[in-house]
Amino acid sequence: MTIRVLSVASEAVPLVKTGGLADVAGALPAAVAPHGAAMTTMVPGYPKVLKAIGKAKAVHAWPSLLGEPARLLAAKLGEQPLLVVDAPAFFQRDGGPYADGSGRDWADNWRRFAAFSRAAADVAGGAVKGLAFDLVHAHDWQAAMVPAYLRFAPEGVAVPSVMTIHNMAFQGHYGAEIFPGLGLPVEAWSIHGVEYHGGVGFLKAGLEAASAITTVSPTYAREIRTAEFGMGLEGLIRSRGERVHGIVNGIDTHEWNPETDPALAQHYSLRTLAKRTANKRALESAFGLDSHDGPLFVVISRLTWQKGMDVLLEVIDHLVGLGGRLALLGSGDMAMEAGFHAAAARHPGKVGIRIGYDEALSHRMQAGGDAILVPSRFEPCGLTQLYGLAYGCVPVVSRTGGLADTVIDANLAAIAAGAATGVQFNAVNYGALADAVSRTIALYYDRDSWRGLQRAGMKSDFSWGRSGAAYAALYASLLEG
Ligand code: ADP
Ligand code: GLC
Repeated sequence: MTIRVLSVASEAVPLVKTGGLADVAGALPAAVAPHGAAMTTMVPGYPKVLKAIGKAKAVHAWPSLLGEPARLLAAKLGEQPLLVVDAPAFFQRDGGPYADGSGRDWADNWRRFAAFSRAAADVAGGAVKGLAFDLVHAHDWQAAMVPAYLRFAPEGVAVPSVMTIHNMAFQGHYGAEIFPGLGLPVEAWSIHGVEYHGGVGFLKAGLEAASAITTVSPTYAREIRTAEFGMGLEGLIRSRGERVHGIVNGIDTHEWNPETDPALAQHYSLRTLAKRTANKRALESAFGLDSHDGPLFVVISRLTWQKGMDVLLEVIDHLVGLGGRLALLGSGDMAMEAGFHAAAARHPGKVGIRIGYDEALSHRMQAGGDAILVPSRFEPCGLTQLYGLAYGCVPVVSRTGGLADTVIDANLAAIAAGAATGVQFNAVNYGALADAVSRTIALYYDRDSWRGLQRAGMKSDFSWGRSGAAYAALYASLLEG
């Protein structure tokens, strides 16, 4: 029996992306397909999305979706079916999915994503003729009201739901005054409904109502049971006990393959690693860096506290002092952007930065860099270290969340066994990161060990195979149960 799943996400590659959620939502349909799950993805109709799908068929209309007219468009996401919620009052505006051009969150985000979730709950509940689903899979707070709307739906609608946490730090927490605008029955205003610390919690509501909860690595699944990582929801997570699963993300191995990647100056493989040098030379010139064979670190990241970018700023002088160079691509916190500009000015030819978002450049950096730094304070899964593994760009990561689960530290035993794939360090502070950088540079000059790290990384299994099967097995278990 094929399980029909509606996957609901506020972003999905290749239509719209601000972070790893988009990579995962975009890859999931193909990941679960071989395991008996037929997935349809639903996204909001931002201008970018409407433009990408072109002329699409309207399969449903809401005269009033939380007070605004909306249509449901049917299109394709690659080979897989796609549904787009076209609600112009909510989604047709310039700027990003969540914020305006200057980075300020849209004031009506609660209404935009409640409406999106309401639409998904209607579709999953069978409101649209010809569209039937066995199960709904909601991602992050923007889709978290889907399980809540389903739980408080009229008698007779019983669709199981999976709620995936990609990042506990974003919860969609609003004041009590928005409650009447959600169109939920009064009984939803309770500790087992949407109420959270006297206000409305979107993620909290979804976690409370979902049939099962997943997050994107086993270590993060354990971490969010604690106050340090649970961000206030640790009690709720603990109370859901066995129903919280950690399933690590895979990567799209067609998009991220150094043998075929159209963005690269030079293709290469596990057996032709020496050819990476051409990509390194191209990267040095793109970032205005001195050209030589010394270690070149790269960073591709949101510039935020989560990602430990403040600590990286402190360590740059040490890195350069040891003969390292750094190429950084990212955007985010304005003070951090200024800090990286200052570091580049201090170290001409040694530190190059690009503030902004550039997908093709991110591929070239993985292909040309020697090591990728990921000093996150918390990291539900993390994808850039996985891309690093696939590209022979050795990951240097803090031991947390998915970073702990996907990189094997180059301790002596792991090197001897040929298992090591990167460098891990414990605390995210100056001393630990500076040590990790020193250790990485020493390893880099031990050419045999370094090649071993690169090869073991490229050989490791970062595909969706196992995780696609794990999601499909979870879906099946919920339908049996
Ligand atoms: P998060 O979703 O928390 O930002 P992930 O590591 O899961 O972290 O995913 C980040 C994704 O966004 C990766 O695909 C990474 O390559 C990409 N990315 C991050 N910043 C940039 C940037 N400035 N330019 C291009 N791609 C970026
Ligand atoms: C979030 C997390 C990141 C994860 C991504 C995809 O953005 O911060 O660690 O890889 O979601 O699951």
